[in-house]
Amino acid sequence: MSERKVGFIGLGKYLPENRLTNKDLEKIVDTTDEWIRERTGIRERRIAREDEATSDMAVHAAKAALKNAKLKPEDIDLIIVATITPDMFFPSTACIVQNRLGANHAPAFDISVACSGFIYGIAIANQFVKSGIYKRVLLIAAEKMSSVTDWKDRATCVLMGDGAGAAILGEVEDGGILSVYLGADGSKGDLLKMPAGGSRLPATASTVEGRLHFLKMQGNELFRHAVRIMANAALKAAEPLGLKGDDINLVIPHQANIRILNAVAKRMGINPAKKVYLNIDKYGNMSAASSAVALAEAVEEGRVKKGDIILLDAFGAGLTWGGIIIKW
Ligand code: COA
Repeated sequence: MSERKVGFIGLGKYLPENRLTNKDLEKIVDTTDEWIRERTGIRERRIAREDEATSDMAVHAAKAALKNAKLKPEDIDLIIVATITPDMFFPSTACIVQNRLGANHAPAFDISVACSGFIYGIAIANQFVKSGIYKRVLLIAAEKMSSVTDWKDRATCVLMGDGAGAAILGEVEDGGILSVYLGADGSKGDLLKMPAGGSRLPATASTVEGRLHFLKMQGNELFRHAVRIMANAALKAAEPLGLKGDDINLVIPHQANIRILNAVAKRMGINPAKKVYLNIDKYGNMSAASSAVALAEAVEEGRVKKGDIILLDAFGAGLTWGGIIIKW
């Protein structure tokens, strides 16, 4: 019997209404619109309302994906939420989403893989569908990065945004996921982390005073690793299929920094202006949600056509990374 082909049968997204522009940030920290645009490619980002949690954005994106797939919540066999900004430590955001959707018979769990969360989630969903254990997996990548952003730290607060993307994976007749490559390097975990709030440093008045419940990043060093690692992840995903840069119709990367993406495209021999999908200018870095929203928008805008070879490529805290090749 031939192996099941696993692909995307529905996509959705949700972006909060509130736009925070670079000009707005000039009033909050010592920065300029020009610095942010030139160094990162970001013009504005979306910020969730104070009363809007990660699960709220996740539910919106999931409903959009269900509608796109013409499915009902009860058709979903498994729910995975990729997030590093869950509503709370437990219960998982996936369980909150399961209840809100009424997807009552679906098991549900979160994965914590930072910016590579959507890629890891696809890898998991792929296995469940391929093995025949589940028919339809709802994968949501949702982040309220503004909730862990230090609005006094100009080096990080200009980078992040909030949002959610969702995908339903299931069996397809043609194409689908052709190769998956994942990686991690825990020795470099200190480069990007939120130090307090877990069992190592539970919340106390002093952790709050020390601003340890916010994201801390060594941007310069991360930048160096990001270029090398994302280029390598792309190669590793393409290698088993014998694909070269020219064979890829569109790269849909994690949107951390436009300079990283241009450098990665150059290493792959790909023209970034033609073959790299970008929405970092509108949304900044939404961690796991970035790749999910980018995929949903690329398809919505007609940048992905049937039969196209797509590369998803991500890198993030952990460190973690992954590359996935899909035939659309
Ligand atoms: N506005 C103005 N100046 C700023 C600034 C801001 N928002 N943030 C930092 N600066 C200053 C720094 O203080 C530094 O000043 P100094 O030279 O007087 O010390 C100068 O700009 C250069 O800082 P540097 O950190 O070297 O800038 P950079 O070109 O490396 O860009 C990042 C900074 C964060 C944009 C970049 O390093 C990056 O994108 N890193 C990787 C991010 C990433 O991949 N993150 C997570 C993975 S998902």
